[in-house]
Amino acid sequence: MNIRTLLQQRVRAAMTAAGVPEECSAPIAPSKNAKFGDYQANGAMAAAKAMKSKPRELAEKICEQLDLDDIAEHIEIAGPGFINIHLKASWLANSLQKAGDDNKLDVAIAANERVVLDYSSPNLAKEMHVGHLRSTIIGDAIARTLEFVGADVVRQNHVGDWGTQFGMLIAELEDKLEEGAEASLALQDLELFYQAAKKRFDAEAEFADRARDYVVQLQSGNERVLKLWQLFRDVSLSHSAAIYKKLNVTLNDKDIHGESAFNEDLAVLVKELQELGLAVEDQGAQVCFLEELADKEGNPSPVIVQKKDGGFLYATTDLAALRYRTHKLKAERIQIFTDDRQSLHLKQVFTLARKAKFIQEPCKLEHRAFGKMLGKDGKPFKTRTGGTVKLAELLDEAIEKAAEVVKSKNPKLSAEQMAEVSRKVGIGAVKYADLSKTRTNDYVFDWDSMLSFEGNTGPYLQYAYTRIASVFRKAELDINSFSSEIVLGAEQEKALALKLMRFSEVLEQIVEDAYPHVLCTYLYELASLFSSFYEACPILKDEVSDTERNSRLMLSKATARTLSQGLDLLGIEVMEQM
Ligand code: ARG
Repeated sequence: MNIRTLLQQRVRAAMTAAGVPEECSAPIAPSKNAKFGDYQANGAMAAAKAMKSKPRELAEKICEQLDLDDIAEHIEIAGPGFINIHLKASWLANSLQKAGDDNKLDVAIAANERVVLDYSSPNLAKEMHVGHLRSTIIGDAIARTLEFVGADVVRQNHVGDWGTQFGMLIAELEDKLEEGAEASLALQDLELFYQAAKKRFDAEAEFADRARDYVVQLQSGNERVLKLWQLFRDVSLSHSAAIYKKLNVTLNDKDIHGESAFNEDLAVLVKELQELGLAVEDQGAQVCFLEELADKEGNPSPVIVQKKDGGFLYATTDLAALRYRTHKLKAERIQIFTDDRQSLHLKQVFTLARKAKFIQEPCKLEHRAFGKMLGKDGKPFKTRTGGTVKLAELLDEAIEKAAEVVKSKNPKLSAEQMAEVSRKVGIGAVKYADLSKTRTNDYVFDWDSMLSFEGNTGPYLQYAYTRIASVFRKAELDINSFSSEIVLGAEQEKALALKLMRFSEVLEQIVEDAYPHVLCTYLYELASLFSSFYEACPILKDEVSDTERNSRLMLSKATARTLSQGLDLLGIEVMEQM
């Protein structure tokens, strides 16, 4: 159990003993300033209001009942009725020790829930571009974290592999194959391929007719056309697989469950919506009008589920996906990671899916929205000529830029080490820069600041880890097998220990609301506290006693482990040297 939960239980018990009704909450918050102790219990004020009594008096009563002898050195009442809790150094040391001995981090989260995470989900007709970066890495960080705390995670890569554009792509591919080209070669640059197909579609009537015909053939399962489609899809998927690998993202083939997988259910679903009286004809199309999402004038929000020409839409597929995920995948919670422009769309399909009982309840439906990636000029991130930036090229550039920085910092690395370090630092920098910003905001993509070894950056945290690794190298000790008693003396030691113990609180927060920046901030503060500790508390100097040295090595080890674990949850790799 983590400290906050433990304190919450004790304070709640004391409040009950002091006569506070159960519905009054017992919030426990970490203190902002060490002067006010380590944690603060803030429940007395609201409880006093509800009970019409004096807050300070009530706080005193609660303190009389509060049994924290084993945990706290002392407690005091401050201001209008805050209860400040100062933890015992010996208790902190023991707790940290125990967490280390069990060789597991103390994450007491009852989260064995089945969670479906829909992330990355690129459109296969085109090459992955920077627009897919955020969904891919934010979703992956959340998937890793949920899995780490024991949730039953099912990843779903809802790729766009269906729809009218595939007609023209297949027609173009067919021509290229007839000219004797290899599919993988013809599709080497998906962007150019798409443009070429589009150009012919707009200019050549015969080609456009064939493309349209192929869409129909595809829907009705024509084998030859399906084969061409499959070929195209495979090549495009291999492009995204290469990106996932480079990005150190955990998605793989078995997670792919794209739009095409729902094709058969779409007509059935629309028919059901009609029978339920939810879908009605409107100018030839099938439309669901949602009163729940009406605008200010009271006009219901329209969701088109079938076009006049019979075609189905993005929303129809999402309804089918929600049904599949709750009925077949048994999801108890679904999180979808897309940019905030899809907020209305997802609100609509969530509302409609529940209304039509497509959802096997109970199931939480959550849109994890995020903002845009901006260039330094504050406008959406583009190439110099104004084109969309290909993700593959962006990542290669990151590795090249990291190589320059690493070379200037440590020219002595071997060529092999250089390659490994540049890859981890470059990719880590891009991911960290993104993950460390509040996801719902837009953020400015800036090479210089993300590759800096100072401040809240990926390289800074990777460097903090290597510093600890080098302490152990210098001491000629194996960090993994090293073990010793922790004794907390200096203030910096206690602050570091407390921070280490708070890792699980941070993870709880992420399980709750899927904001990875909370973990980034935590790791950055941890690394900063380690720095202060390292400056104030020498480890390997001669004058340091054995007990002290070993305890400090243990604190260092725990920091290294939390740093690497935390970075791993963000999908960022560490290294022993850089
Ligand atoms: N393919 C979509 C896009 O590129 C994202 C899909 C997100 N998932 C979903 N179930 N709608 O915008």
